[in-house]
Amino acid sequence: MCAPNVCVAPHDGRPGTAAAAGQPQFPMMAADFPPLPSCPVTPINAADAWHILCALRTAAAGYPASLEGITVAADGTWHATRPIAPDAARLLDLLLPMACGGAPCVVAQIGQSLDGYIATASGDSCYVTGMQSRIHLHRLRALVDAVVVGVGTVIADDPALTVRHVTGPNPARVVLDPQGRAPRGARVFTERGATTWHAVCDPAQAAPGASALALPPGDAMATACALLQSLAQRGLRRVLIEGGGITISHFLQAGLLDRLHVMVAPLLLGSGRRTLTLPEIKSLQSALRPRCRSYALGEDRLYDLDLRHPAG
Ligand SMILES: NC(=O)c1ccc[n+]([C@@H]2O[C@H](COP(=O)([O-])OP(=O)(O)OC[C@H]3O[C@@H](n4cnc5c(N)ncnc54)[C@H](OP(=O)(O)O)[C@@H]3O)[C@@H](O)[C@H]2O)c1
Repeated sequence: MCAPNVCVAPHDGRPGTAAAAGQPQFPMMAADFPPLPSCPVTPINAADAWHILCALRTAAAGYPASLEGITVAADGTWHATRPIAPDAARLLDLLLPMACGGAPCVVAQIGQSLDGYIATASGDSCYVTGMQSRIHLHRLRALVDAVVVGVGTVIADDPALTVRHVTGPNPARVVLDPQGRAPRGARVFTERGATTWHAVCDPAQAAPGASALALPPGDAMATACALLQSLAQRGLRRVLIEGGGITISHFLQAGLLDRLHVMVAPLLLGSGRRTLTLPEIKSLQSALRPRCRSYALGEDRLYDLDLRHPAG
């Protein structure tokens, strides 16, 4: 027997932050939760958690918000008033920082081999990571306002950038292409389902199937910053930088990323296109050491890096 409406998982959606006094010590992970008791109260499962995340994404009623036994504060703190399954708790831990509060958020994702490559030298990347990682990518797409890719990814992969592996809305699509090199027949320009912005230096070079977004002259970091400002002016404040490695590196170097999700797959390429390329550092003391949590995604491992907080 167990009492209904027992709070089984008080938790802070942001890693390592103390929650209310008297609650369990953090950081807690989904795996730390006690086993669900056998009782007639239906636990919140992963499908319920995804439904809650999608609803919170567009919540207009303000915070704290209560939905289906989960109460969420604007800072990502959440607690459950019903039993919750560990995979559902993990989903909330991981994705609430992007879904709630309405604050601007820039997250990048990349899927890489164990030895740090995202594709072969010829550009073959389908697929480095497994199905669970691809589902995670589609969840990220569904939670953001806009998804950004570099022109190298459009040329190599011809992605549609829509949400297909989960239910959820398509984000606006943005192709970062200062020189207007993207093929006019690319799926982002020809397939319907979402708005596409073609970010180019010369608006006359924008693809016919897209809206032009003019990039000011400047280096890659200034361009990345200007792009986010332009998107914010259009109401697109939650942004996923989906790849490739060069594009993510520019946003990272410019200090524009709030979070970086790296999915590491158990394969070795030995050569190819690198995940990240940043200016050389002389000492390990200069390495980026953000706060980090990791999760299993099938055979892959997801590292959720909180770039606004150093490791404790
Ligand atoms: N495994 C994964 O998760 C994943 C995800 C996405 C892509 N990929 C793979 O990654 C490869 C492509 O990645 P990539 O790193 O070679 O190229 P990329 O990042 O897709 O595109 C790089 C290009 O985009 C433009 N660009 C990006 N950021 C810019 C900035 N801040 N300012 C100005 N221009 C900017 C530049 O175009 P210009 O050179 O024209 O100036 C740059 O050369 C493909 O093989 C694809 O299959 C893998």
